[in-house]
Amino acid sequence: MVTILGRAKINLTLDILGLREDGYHEIATVMQSLALADTLTFSRQEEGITLTVDLPWLEADERNLAHRAAALIMKECGLRGGVHIAIAKRIPVAAGLAGGSADAAATLRGMNELYGIGLSDKELCALGAQLGSDIPFSLVGGTVLATGRGEIMQRLADFPVTSVVLAKPPVSVSTPWAYRSYDAHPPEYHPDNAAFMEALTRGDRAACAHLIGNVLEPVTEAEHPVIGDYRARMRAHGALCAMMSGSGPTVFGLFAQEQTAAAAAEVFGRETDAAVHLTSTVGRYGQE
Ligand code: C5P
Repeated sequence: MVTILGRAKINLTLDILGLREDGYHEIATVMQSLALADTLTFSRQEEGITLTVDLPWLEADERNLAHRAAALIMKECGLRGGVHIAIAKRIPVAAGLAGGSADAAATLRGMNELYGIGLSDKELCALGAQLGSDIPFSLVGGTVLATGRGEIMQRLADFPVTSVVLAKPPVSVSTPWAYRSYDAHPPEYHPDNAAFMEALTRGDRAACAHLIGNVLEPVTEAEHPVIGDYRARMRAHGALCAMMSGSGPTVFGLFAQEQTAAAAAEVFGRETDAAVHLTSTVGRYGQE
């Protein structure tokens, strides 16, 4: 039996540079992994892929990215034998936190270990990129500048360890919808990735906090104004900065002190309908 964590991510910056011929968007995003994680357990079985998830309403068949990741690596590596995957789901679903990608990445790692396949991280990332743009990042984690459609990665200095409060409002956002809405009304504003990375190199968290930015935030917020409300509340409760992650709708706040973050999480849970998590940033896979 093999157990692997699939970690959530936030986007500290997210810029869209243009539309590609393949229909995807060319992006430049600084991604950061979090301690918040799903736990996946893999055990061998004679044949086939079976999946259990501890959320009864979540699909546990071919629609689940973990299932598809297992099928892909089995086919590509000509594996004989099957796998049972048990997922303990802690990352909010359809939230902008790459929960599905985290599970797919953990599955590629889990199968690699369970069957002693010996694929390198680079090979695992190439497989992951076939299934979703965020999966290569989910495989390596830490702090990364992701470009292309999100699958080309440049490792950055680790973001200083920081307490994070996540607040997911009770609404769902479809990623393709967010990108399409962006195309219809592209905002003027773009985050300054170069300045962000320069501040990161200096380990200057306060400067980084001023430079976070996400071009999808105004798009999703126009449909779900609760995002603006949550952002304001995060700041009022002492966050260094607050922003929507990915295509949303989760809002994250970064906090200089864990105590302040814990107090903010408690108030959020009491005063709003949000699903709230208190977590922190972590380094790359194997070096957390
Ligand atoms: O790659 P992934 O399956 O996670 O992407 C989901 C959807 O998000 C894509 O089908 C596309 O509509 C949109 N997308 C995009 N440009 C990206 C990443 C995602 O348009 N760089």
